[in-house]
Amino acid sequence: MPILKILTQPNPILRKKSAEINPAAIKSRELKSLASSMVKTMIKADGVGLAAPQIGKNIRLIVINSKDGVFCLVNPKFIKKSWARELGQEGCLSIPGVFGEVKRHKKISLAYYNQEGKKVKLTAEGMMARVIQHEIDHLDGILFIDKAVKIEKNDRQ
Ligand code: CO
Repeated sequence: MPILKILTQPNPILRKKSAEINPAAIKSRELKSLASSMVKTMIKADGVGLAAPQIGKNIRLIVINSKDGVFCLVNPKFIKKSWARELGQEGCLSIPGVFGEVKRHKKISLAYYNQEGKKVKLTAEGMMARVIQHEIDHLDGILFIDKAVKIEKNDRQ
């Protein structure tokens, strides 16, 4: 499974709303191999998350690199978002060397399909909630720089 090329801003694919994946296709070989290539690509780039549009596919698929391991979310949907929000620093593999502070919900609940095609629910807070919100924004064509304050460019990366 190859390392994929990460698209960078500006690229129209990053700005498109991505389509839902047919749940019947989740266990297909194509999707499994795409998800594992995305995981490899994310780890090699030292990222905490990667969304399919970033590798050129406008489909609702995300991979996350958390302290509990790597996992894959298909068709994620928010069930609940906390009223409380907090500012925190973000960057993005598609916008290298740029950082900014984004206000995100502190706690979220979501439903998604896992790689076995099973619908699961997850509650996340703090850093994990932030990463998931950032990645779901990618599925809707939204980049963190659209929402960030105190945007900084760091050429050292
Ligand atoms: Co990003």
